[in-house]
Amino acid sequence: MLEAVGLCKRFGALDATHNVSLRLEAGARHAIIGPNGAGKTTLFNLLAGEIRPDSGRILLDGREVTRASPDARARAGLGRSFQRNNLFESETVALNLALADIARRGTGWQVWRRLASDRAARARAEAVAAQVGLGDDLASPVASLSYGARRQLEVALALMGEPKVLLLDEPTAGMSPEETGRMLGLIDSLPAGLAVLIVEHDMDLVFAHAHRITVLNYGEVLFEGTPDEVRASALVQDTYLGEDAEAC
Ligand SMILES: Nc1ncnc2c1ncn2[C@@H]1O[C@H](COP(=O)(O)OP(=O)(O)OP(=O)(O)O)[C@@H](O)[C@H]1O
Ligand SMILES: [Mg+2]
Repeated sequence: MLEAVGLCKRFGALDATHNVSLRLEAGARHAIIGPNGAGKTTLFNLLAGEIRPDSGRILLDGREVTRASPDARARAGLGRSFQRNNLFESETVALNLALADIARRGTGWQVWRRLASDRAARARAEAVAAQVGLGDDLASPVASLSYGARRQLEVALALMGEPKVLLLDEPTAGMSPEETGRMLGLIDSLPAGLAVLIVEHDMDLVFAHAHRITVLNYGEVLFEGTPDEVRASALVQDTYLGEDAEAC
């Protein structure tokens, strides 16, 4: 579903991404871990099209998207949740979701209000809200939502585009334990066929949910394997996980 081949990205003298390759099949649950500054967000931005690689290729469902815009990638099946706030604060959860559906279908913005009452958009908004655990919050203005619920809504917005691949950038960052639990439930309940790539610092989440893990270090792939293989890797232990790994 998503393949990166030999991606390289330099910022001045810094190799932020060096020869990184990655392959996600349909239904993948793949995590990227690594120390601060390892290049996780840069890799995400390359995959999402926010920045362009100096060399290497990116394929989405078999199609070359290396030079494609973020919008073109979204239309080709790539969904991503943003940590940046992307929400219409004073509008309801239902309207935010319906607008995402309308935007996806490329309808003119000027008629959005009329179309927001469009039955198909509303039905889809209700289904996705229920999917992410916001079924009871459809009529709530975004401004009234808790931090955790807003993050759930951001995932819902990404799902409105019916992606084949979903990129989640630190989905539980800044969350309370209760909010983290809800987000884990959401991730668990994502459609089985969806390929999910998660950048995450929370090792409990990574080891519980990922089927494969790529460990980045100084922009390079240090190791890739199953959670058990990552745990057992002396290289990963020495370089990154260290003593904390005992707790995983
Ligand atoms: N636009 C940029 N210009 C210059 N340097 C950058 C830019 N973006 C990232 N970097 C540098 O590239 C390296 C990798 O950064 P990146 O944000 O990808 O790391 P990360 O693994 O996401 O770290 P963290 O865990 O702290 O989020 C860092 O040294 C960072 O300072
Ligand atoms: Mg980062």
